[in-house]
Amino acid sequence: MDTSGRKLSSPIDCSDSRLDEALTYALSNPGKQLRSRLCRVTSAVVAGCELPSAARAGEAIEFLHTYSLIHDDLPSMDDDDLRRGKATVHKAYDEATAILVGDGLQALAFEWIVDTPDLAPLQQVQLVKLLSKSVGFDGMVGGQAMDIAAEGQSLAPVQLAQVHARKTGALIEASVVAGAICANATDAQQASLSTFAQRIGLAFQVMDDVLDVTATSEELGKTAGKDIDAEKSTYVASMGIEGARDYAETLLSEALEALNEFGDAASELKQLGRLMVHRSF
Ligand code: IPE
Ligand code: IPE
Ligand code: MG
Ligand code: MG
Ligand code: MG
Repeated sequence: MDTSGRKLSSPIDCSDSRLDEALTYALSNPGKQLRSRLCRVTSAVVAGCELPSAARAGEAIEFLHTYSLIHDDLPSMDDDDLRRGKATVHKAYDEATAILVGDGLQALAFEWIVDTPDLAPLQQVQLVKLLSKSVGFDGMVGGQAMDIAAEGQSLAPVQLAQVHARKTGALIEASVVAGAICANATDAQQASLSTFAQRIGLAFQVMDDVLDVTATSEELGKTAGKDIDAEKSTYVASMGIEGARDYAETLLSEALEALNEFGDAASELKQLGRLMVHRSF
């Protein structure tokens, strides 16, 4: 997969040298940067070219996503040792530092949005509301709580969809809608883009569940097989590997269909959607 996202430079000097080092460490391998790419490419669907404001909003989203991963890996959450091909932040440093790096990245994301000069104040407020909701109690944080509560249980597909829509889907949807806000999309355009994002966000987490079983830790840069060990409620547990793959394909088709009204202007976003489902890591 093309991982040609921008490198997330160390965005700020921390007053504490250990925290500063851990922040630099956390950002040194920025991952696939799918969410910032979704934001930029969506802005181009509406505006005809990728907007600098969407690039900036995309960086803020990557700070939020990176924070969510650092906390997801903590011993009290998924207890993971490996992330993006390196030791997790709490392994390389310590738990308190990992919690603080996550907390700081979350706050920084919002500072980043309001420090974006080429966004109008109304757009800044819309983005802050969108992003805070997407990672909040009814978004990523709520989904993470549901994910943990569902360990050891077998959820019905409809309940699983609710967990996945919050823990992963909400920030992916927000990445697309953020691009639309930066480009001043109409309500109708935003609605179609949201439908695309909801379908692709669910398909993405379904494939994350599949890859947890089918790929190696080396390929993923994170520990494979964790979901079975932790008795996670996943689409693979619910419908098997092939069933989950087929479901991801159905969701992908629905996602792409929602972009048809944009014609050729959406071809790059469609391609990114395909990559998110047909990925190997
Ligand atoms: C991993 O997301 C966590 C999930 C929501 C499944 P990514 O697969 O986008 O992780 P990075 O950013 O590329 O490391
Ligand atoms: C985590 O989902 C989603 C987040 C909010 C970070 P997973 O727990 O499945 O993500 P991985 O597999 O550890 O990347
Ligand atoms: Mg998790
Ligand atoms: Mg995890
Ligand atoms: Mg996973």
